[in-house]
Amino acid sequence: MLDLTGKVAIVTGSTKGIGRAVAEHMLAAGAAVVVSSRTEAEVHEVAAQLGDRAMGIVCDVADPDACQRLVDETVARFGRIDVLVNNAGVGIFKPLSEMTVSEWQLQVNVNLGGVFYCSKAALPHLSATEDGFIVNIASLASRNPFPGGTGYNASKYGLLGMTEAMMLDVRYDDVRVSIVMPGSVDTHFNGREQLPERTWRLHVDDCATAVMQLLSYPKQAHVSRVEMRPGQPKKG
Ligand SMILES: NC(=O)c1ccc[n+]([C@@H]2O[C@H](COP(=O)([O-])OP(=O)(O)OC[C@H]3O[C@@H](n4cnc5c(N)ncnc54)[C@H](OP(=O)(O)O)[C@@H]3O)[C@@H](O)[C@H]2O)c1
Repeated sequence: MLDLTGKVAIVTGSTKGIGRAVAEHMLAAGAAVVVSSRTEAEVHEVAAQLGDRAMGIVCDVADPDACQRLVDETVARFGRIDVLVNNAGVGIFKPLSEMTVSEWQLQVNVNLGGVFYCSKAALPHLSATEDGFIVNIASLASRNPFPGGTGYNASKYGLLGMTEAMMLDVRYDDVRVSIVMPGSVDTHFNGREQLPERTWRLHVDDCATAVMQLLSYPKQAHVSRVEMRPGQPKKG
């Protein structure tokens, strides 16, 4: 089993859904983990639930200054950053005619801007470990357009391009960058109800397992892209 003892990870958007599952898997592997989202009460509640190696820091990834504080406070507390998981994201599924300018801006600034702000702030620390890792949670919507995806597809297609370009630069700074592109996952995303029983959708633990597998390869081996889809999606 992957041993992350002594390593420090930041997971954005980790009070629920995929991000929380990633945080739980990393803690189980021995890492210290910074749990984060916009909602202060949930950040502290979840960090307390996850135990002594979890720390909560409030951060809206759409705010570059907040992303810098997220990184600075992590380093102040734990002294290093080994892994950054850029997971925070929003989905506003509307056609062009219905999407407002502020909805467009929010989606692009969170899903794309937030990854840039956090990665830029964390890069020197990731590089200093000589084996840093950034994992960006994108989507199959990073390459499959769908009706109502004007904003979401734009942000996730952009994230795929940004991730792979960034990867080509920072590998020479001792940082690997990978992208995980899940299909439909059973979470609260886009205001959906998360079901207690497993459905045809991917489970959050499936996504967390993919992230952990990426981290398990030795430094000379870099799996840069993972596409993950439900085994038997609902027909029609
Ligand atoms: N669910 C799916 O079907 C699916 C499929 C493919 C990809 N994804 C991607 O997976 C990622 C996680 O989605 P999820 O399904 O786990 O969603 P979720 O259950 O809705 O959880 C989203 C998390 O992100 C936080 N968040 C939202 N906006 C934020 C912001 N501006 N700054 C910081 N944190 C923020 C939320 O907390 P607060 O609202 O309190 O801030 C929450 O902790 C997203 O990037 C999404 O695009 C999801």
